Amino acid sequence: MMDDRAGDMRSRAQEIMRLNDRGTYTVPTSGLYPFQWNWDSCLSALGFAHFDEARAWTEIDTLFAHQWEDGMVPHIVFHREDDGYFPGPDVWRTGRMTPTPTPTTGITQPPVAGFCIRRLVDRAADRALAETRARALLPQIHAWHKWFYRHRDPQGTGLVAILHPWESGRDNSIDWDAPLERVSPEGVEPFTRKDTTHADPAHRPTQGQYERYIRLVQHFRDLDWDNARLHDASPFRVVDPGFNAILVRSCTDLAALADDLGEAEIAARSREFATRGLAAMESLWSEARGQYLCHDRATGRAIDSPSIGGLLPVFAAIPAPRAAALAARIAHLGEGAEYMVPSHDPAAPEFDSLRYWRGPVWLIVNYMIADGLARAGHGVQADRIVGDSLRLIRESGFAEYYDTHTAEPCGGSTFTWTAAIVIEFLTPISRPGDTA
Ligand code: GLC
Repeated sequence: MMDDRAGDMRSRAQEIMRLNDRGTYTVPTSGLYPFQWNWDSCLSALGFAHFDEARAWTEIDTLFAHQWEDGMVPHIVFHREDDGYFPGPDVWRTGRMTPTPTPTTGITQPPVAGFCIRRLVDRAADRALAETRARALLPQIHAWHKWFYRHRDPQGTGLVAILHPWESGRDNSIDWDAPLERVSPEGVEPFTRKDTTHADPAHRPTQGQYERYIRLVQHFRDLDWDNARLHDASPFRVVDPGFNAILVRSCTDLAALADDLGEAEIAARSREFATRGLAAMESLWSEARGQYLCHDRATGRAIDSPSIGGLLPVFAAIPAPRAAALAARIAHLGEGAEYMVPSHDPAAPEFDSLRYWRGPVWLIVNYMIADGLARAGHGVQADRIVGDSLRLIRESGFAEYYDTHTAEPCGGSTFTWTAAIVIEFLTPISRPGDTA
């Protein structure tokens, strides 16, 4: 039974989702992010499903209507013109690659779609609708997964690389500092940022980082967005354990769904991807840190940066001792953080409690970590994360992200995926051994 406070929070969350609903897609928040973002949409669909299942499916369908012919699903779909955002379509210039006249960016984002659609089907009240919509999306999501292993793992290591910090979804993480330093900003076209007019500049990536973000875009544009060339030519090639865990989890979930829907070939290939990905993940483990670390594919070295990217693998079916070690690491972080889970270890010298992905708490990552911990039998840690997340909302509203020590709301407000995750958190998580 939901108490009144939870009921109010849920209604407010629903209201925010409606506010940011543009009919067939949602914007993360108006002003700062006025288009459709890839993983925002998929995760937001989970929230929609609690009050409008058809709308949830439409959110994901709209994203996949803009999948490139080579299988890539872009990180932003620019549905309408809006000069409040930089870099817009005139910078990306992906025109030749996009399947519709609607422009998109040329990079991707964490592939949560496989995980999300399985969850939508499992919980569907309208089973027939869910199966029809899932059946149509299955080959599209599978094509995206194949794209990753073909173009982002050309050596067949089992792990895929990101070629731009924005692909990770953790834009300015400390993880990218060293590899981004090697991207020379020389030749970057002059530009004017828009993000700092919507949000506090002290909470946003720095100018030096922005110059390199744009320089990378120019670099890929010069290669005609040809994904067969991008990986080897990119000066930024990083293997992110969090990103790979999300891909592995999505492959596993897609396999299960494909089994249920009688798509044996998709099921077998997806399972193969997941098995290889999980085995290869082991190479990213750091005994010294008690968590996974990113690997810089351009230098062949580990990036010794204790970020949340190295905790996210608990979202995939990593071996039980690794999950237990991550649970212990998370418990340890919990001793120094008022609100879990900081996006970077607060004890690290580079930690910044307000600047975007360099310390603050993000509810979507909390959701994935809590889900993984609960599935691995670490309910105490999962409950702490869910409890802290709801406390953040009560104290500071539906912000983009929060200070891990003070709960200060940061970035944009009335944020769609924060609202979606709140609705999810207000619905009990199932645990191993639970009966339906
Ligand atoms: C920022 C976040 C990214 C998110 C986007 C829209 O770029 O780092 O993860 O998808 O905003 O909310």
